[in-house]
Amino acid sequence: MEPVEPASAAAPVSDGPQPSPVAARFDLWAAGYDSSILQDTFYTGLHRHALHLATRANPAPRRLLDLGCGTGRLLRAAAARFPHAELLGVDISAGMLSQARALDAGRRAVTYLRADAARLPLADGAVDVVLCTASSHHWTEPEAPLAQLRRITADDGVLILAHVPGVAAWDLTTGAGGARHQGLRTGTSCLTALLSEAGFRITKAALYADCPVMPTTVVLCARPDTAPRARGGIRLLRSGAAGPR
Ligand SMILES: C[S@@+](CC[C@H](N)C(=O)[O-])C[C@H]1O[C@@H](n2cnc3c(N)ncnc32)[C@H](O)[C@@H]1O
Repeated sequence: MEPVEPASAAAPVSDGPQPSPVAARFDLWAAGYDSSILQDTFYTGLHRHALHLATRANPAPRRLLDLGCGTGRLLRAAAARFPHAELLGVDISAGMLSQARALDAGRRAVTYLRADAARLPLADGAVDVVLCTASSHHWTEPEAPLAQLRRITADDGVLILAHVPGVAAWDLTTGAGGARHQGLRTGTSCLTALLSEAGFRITKAALYADCPVMPTTVVLCARPDTAPRARGGIRLLRSGAAGPR
């Protein structure tokens, strides 16, 4: 497996000349994030389901990434579940990462990297389990993060993409986290199509009903599609359909 690229671990992120509104919002929320009502109502279950499916997909990963790791809560649970895995957390918000590091003090080491999902500072095929919970609906242009996820996921790896559509819709409607302008492009059905376009095949789509108010948690398990000719064939047919008249 290719190593993480140390030189790019400190790669610049999108809070340069044009600050990311998502990062700015989560920087503000970071201190109170773990005491939010969303945690026990939605995210504890979301994390449990994501970890369960990750364990079934690969009980002993070598390297696990949590993309959009926030305050590192899922990584702390993953540390107990996967005692031998190298753990990485990537997030665009410096505030969330600094909370994660503070909460991790005295625990098993996790490598945290500040980066935009659209520009992951990791080598090709470097990760064999990728978790991404409650984060993908913040992606302004989901194609770029999904292409990055395909690039860094080992061919025998797995991506577990989980979200609570009700919370995502609330974010999109209210503009929370700077997500408003994205419309519904990262809803479940759209994500499924985008994952396929990015070179993943969905191996499981699980729905969970944990909360009586907003019941559905969606977890998608996706594996790299290592049959490029088949994907090319589909693209060919699609372009043929829109082709010469
Ligand atoms: C709702 S929080 C979820 C945090 C954590 N995954 C969890 O399950 O509790 C969304 C996180 O995604 C991060 N995020 C949003 N857009 C991102 C991007 N383009 N690249 C990296 N992280 C991003 C935010 O900074 C935030 O920490």
